[in-house]
Parts: sequence; C-alpha cells; structure tokens
Amino acid sequence: MNITFLGGGNMATALIGGLLKQAEPRPRITVIDPAQSQRERLAREFGVQTLAAAAPQAQACDLLVLAVKPQQMREALLPLAAQARSALVVSVAAGIRCADLSRWLGGHTRIVRTMPNTPALIGAGITGLWAGPAVGEADRALAEQVVRAVGEAVWVAQEPLLDAVTALSGSGPAYVFYFIEAMQAAGARLGLDPEAAARLTLATFRGAAALAGAATVPVSTLREQVTSKGGTTAAALASMQSHGLAARIDEAMTAACRRAAELADEFGRDPQA
Ligand SMILES: NC(=O)c1ccc[n+]([C@@H]2O[C@H](COP(=O)([O-])OP(=O)(O)OC[C@H]3O[C@@H](n4cnc5c(N)ncnc54)[C@H](OP(=O)(O)O)[C@@H]3O)[C@@H](O)[C@H]2O)c1
Repeated sequence: MNITFLGGGNMATALIGGLLKQAEPRPRITVIDPAQSQRERLAREFGVQTLAAAAPQAQACDLLVLAVKPQQMREALLPLAAQARSALVVSVAAGIRCADLSRWLGGHTRIVRTMPNTPALIGAGITGLWAGPAVGEADRALAEQVVRAVGEAVWVAQEPLLDAVTALSGSGPAYVFYFIEAMQAAGARLGLDPEAAARLTLATFRGAAALAGAATVPVSTLREQVTSKGGTTAAALASMQSHGLAARIDEAMTAACRRAAELADEFGRDPQA
C-alpha cells in the first residue's frame, strides 16, 4: 500500500511510527513537508520517502493522510486535488469539516474525518472518526487501522458529534492536567514535599483510570466504594458538590463544543467568502 502524509509534524510522526510497527506488509510511505528538518528527521527515523511539495510521485497513493495544521490545510490541499482522486483521504486535522476538505479537493468524497488527542503522541490516544455515505466498509476499516496505530478508535454517527469528541477527549487531556496541577498544589500546601505530591497525584490518576478501565461496575459505584459515610472522601466530595463542580464541568465542555463549531466555520471559510 502507498500512503502519503501531507505534513510531517508531531501527529504524522506518531502515526507513521505506529503504522510501521503494526502494518504487514510494510506500507510505502511518502511524506510531503516543506520543512527540511522534518524531512531529514523522518527519512532518518523511518526510512520513508520525503518531498518538499506535492509531486507526481505522490500520484500513486492509496491513502492520503492530512496532518497539517488546520490553518495550513486549504493552501496545502489545493495542489493535491488531482493526486487525491483515487485515494482514501483521512484527515486528522482538528475542526476542518468534510465538506470543506471535499471542496478543496475538487469534490472528492472518499474522506474520513478524525479527531485524535495528544496522548496519541505516545501511542495512548483515542480518536473519534466520522465518514459520510460515500465511504465504504473497506475504507472505514483502513481509516480505523491508521488511527489505531496510536491508540483507540470510536466512530460517531454524525459529523457535528466530532465537536463533542473535541470537547471531551480532544481537549480532555488539558482538563486532566489542570486537575493534576490543582491536586499537586493542594498536596504541597497541606505540607507534602512537592515531588512527593506530584508522585502521589500521578499515581492516583494512573491507578484510578486503570481501576475504572478494569471494573465491571459503573464508575459511580467505584466512587461510592471509597466514600464512607462521615469519612474523608465524603468531606471532599461534599465540598466539590457544594460548588457545583459537575455543572461547571458541563458548562466548560459546552463552551469547548461551541468553540469547536466556530473554529470549523473559520477554518473552512474560503478567502473570498
Ligand atoms: N499534536 C496532537 O496531539 C494533535 C491532536 C489532535 C489533532 N491534531 C491535528 O493534527 C494535525 C497536525 O498537528 P501536528 O501537531 O502534527 O502539527 P505540526 O507538528 O505543526 O505538523 C504540521 C507539519 O505540516 C507542515 N506543513 C505546513 N504547510 C504544509 C504544506 N503546505 N504541505 C505539507 N506540509 C505542510 C508543517 O511545516 P511548518 O512547521 O514549516 O509549517 C509541519 O511540519 C493538526 O491539524 C492538528 O489539529 C494534532
């Protein structure tokens, strides 16, 4: 299989590394990236072919992975319209709708839009995917194989639900980091050595996530199991509830979802419109 990556940055690097580890037979990969340093690094690290710009060599690709920044997408895609004609196109770019990609690719419809998250960079991501009716089962399976190279995959039934994926797992790592920072700071303020507070916090997140992942009961049951009546956890949760923390999280994610739709409007606009 011939795979072309448009953009050879962080996400492309993670996907290429994952694909080369798992895909048999080894796919022939070409990366288009104007940055010489990126091209040299990718060629050295993975032995892939690189190009500074779209060229006839890219014509034979079966799969075109769009991994440039959303703001770079329109300009990067316009020269590729002819080359993409026989390819499945998989976009990992945040917030660019299929209709806009399709228009910039001259009406191409074999497009799968995905929304990965940053843990993908260490192979621990989760990616939301959406495809329109023009994308068949084999193409869906191929797109899923690509994103599974860097973690888990979840399909959504309608494209706007990718905005909800963005608000949840796309931006979610930052919410978790925020919570980690707050717990580390509170632990240190309660007298713990900052390094110990950091280790206790990280191990707690890792352990709780692993426990939730392994459990056969709902997460709410796990929470109730550590919350003895009148105990320390009950005191902490009562404080959180009195501040309406769950409602604040709901509001925050609603804001993220709304912003995802606004950004898609902005990124998808043609200059003359
Ligand atoms: N990183 C993540 O964890 C993550 C998570 C979710 C989604 N994504 C999505 O993945 C996409 C890539 O993100 P990234 O973090 O990998 O970005 P990145 O590291 O900046 O990589 C993008 C690469 O594309 C190159 N480029 C710019 N214009 C180009 C063109 N016309 N043709 C080909 N290549 C071009 C850039 O070169 P220059 O640096 O010279 O401009 C850069 O090397 C984005 O759309 C982002 O929304 C990333």
